[in-house]
Amino acid sequence: MDLFLKKDLARVVAEANDPNRDEAHGGGLKRSLGAFHLTMLGIGAIIGAGIFSLTGTAAANYAGPGIAISFVIGGVLCALAGLCYAELAAMIPVAGSAYAYSYSTMGELIAWIIGWDLVLEYAFGAVTVASAWSGYLLSIPQKTFHIQFPDTVLRFTKGPWETIKLGDGSTAYGWINLPAFLIALVCASVLYRGIKESAWVNNLIVILKVVIVVSFVVLGIGLITADNLVANPAATGVAKLVPPVVVDATGSHFGWGNGGVLTGAGVVFFAYIGFDAVSTTAQEAKNPKRDLPIGILASLVLCTILYILVALTLTGVVPYKQLGVSDPIAVGIDKIVELRGWSPMLQKSFTFLVKLGALAGLSSVILVMMLGQTRVFYAMSQDGLLPWFKKTHPTYNTPHIATVVTGLFVAFASAILPMSLVGELVSIGTLLAFVLVCLGVPILRRTNPDIPRPFRVPAPYFVGPAGAIACLWVMKGLPGDTWLRLVIWLIIGFAVYFGYGMRHSRLRNEAK
Ligand code: ALA
Repeated sequence: MDLFLKKDLARVVAEANDPNRDEAHGGGLKRSLGAFHLTMLGIGAIIGAGIFSLTGTAAANYAGPGIAISFVIGGVLCALAGLCYAELAAMIPVAGSAYAYSYSTMGELIAWIIGWDLVLEYAFGAVTVASAWSGYLLSIPQKTFHIQFPDTVLRFTKGPWETIKLGDGSTAYGWINLPAFLIALVCASVLYRGIKESAWVNNLIVILKVVIVVSFVVLGIGLITADNLVANPAATGVAKLVPPVVVDATGSHFGWGNGGVLTGAGVVFFAYIGFDAVSTTAQEAKNPKRDLPIGILASLVLCTILYILVALTLTGVVPYKQLGVSDPIAVGIDKIVELRGWSPMLQKSFTFLVKLGALAGLSSVILVMMLGQTRVFYAMSQDGLLPWFKKTHPTYNTPHIATVVTGLFVAFASAILPMSLVGELVSIGTLLAFVLVCLGVPILRRTNPDIPRPFRVPAPYFVGPAGAIACLWVMKGLPGDTWLRLVIWLIIGFAVYFGYGMRHSRLRNEAK
């Protein structure tokens, strides 16, 4: 029994382009996305909880103003992976993304592991961001308008493992996170309706969130002071941004290494997750060979530039020690408004708008992450490794069963699971997929040198391994219990594979 049966690459590409492939299951996916839509989908998935929530704590606890350098490091790592994604996505334009690439490079079992692992990135990514969405939603009435909700209402804003503060000042566990549950269902309904409709909703949201982020930078950049930005006056050049090492009861903080800029890079890696979701729409792109690399790389470059500017503006306006909060951008806005001497009314309106932008921004992350998940399930089901999900809706041309199942899974999981439990799991799952994609590029250059590559990674024997090593290094820095959860998740995956996938594998059954 060969667990590592490989798909013939030429056949994978031919199948992806076969218009009759899905007729038996409905109309098949519809090619309606161009380079602009794909880039917007990438930005839609990237800008979210990472920049709106994690930047502040990463600056306060690990990197100080050096968080801008952490973003540069994260950006370089993702650029290496992004280049590899761009080559493989243009060469093998199929919905399964990393799952599908691994099927041809490393065989069925590894492909299964990656497909299963992508659930951590896409479905659990949506769960994490839905929880953050709920937090931001609540902060509008509570923090901006100082409205106090009855305890019973508050119990419906957090899951059973998270605490809420009651009216009398005591704490209690929540019941379910209803806002997170509902936003997941709303996003699933949009996805059910059609890829074009989903792309349009995403475009609107992306425009709003980019306007908010750019306004933050434009209004704040002139207010940056050296006092805030220079955390280590004795240093030279960019090292001035990095606070010197401090050792306290909670361990070592700041400096360049562990507990400092590098740890900050690991934390803000979450902010970059999502550009790869573009590759899962390969079978819905009008000209995937040209437009997928554009979508992946343009969204990544734009977001990297925005992130570095936001990080510099935020830590340049607010002393980094004050940024250890869940809504650092709102804190930054308050400071900008105060420094500009705007009226309290204007301040309130602006904070409200920013939170609205953040809410919108988080919604598009949930939308695109769920989109990615449904397309990976679709591809795995086409190969026989999962049941039902390959069916497409006869009118809407979406994988509707995969969409309903993903929507319900994300909705129920975000109603009960705490964000802290799933957030790092998303990062480790994504990094694992990146490692295999980075390794896939040099492997395929050797095994299939003649297949046309519309986009070619420069120096593939350096970029691929360097990307893989960089991702492994960030994975190494994640806590032991995150690794344990990854292992448990993969064990569950093996049970599903040996119980169902292996017996129904199309490739395996054809080889008999
Ligand atoms: N990059 C996405 C976010 O920050 C996952 O929300």
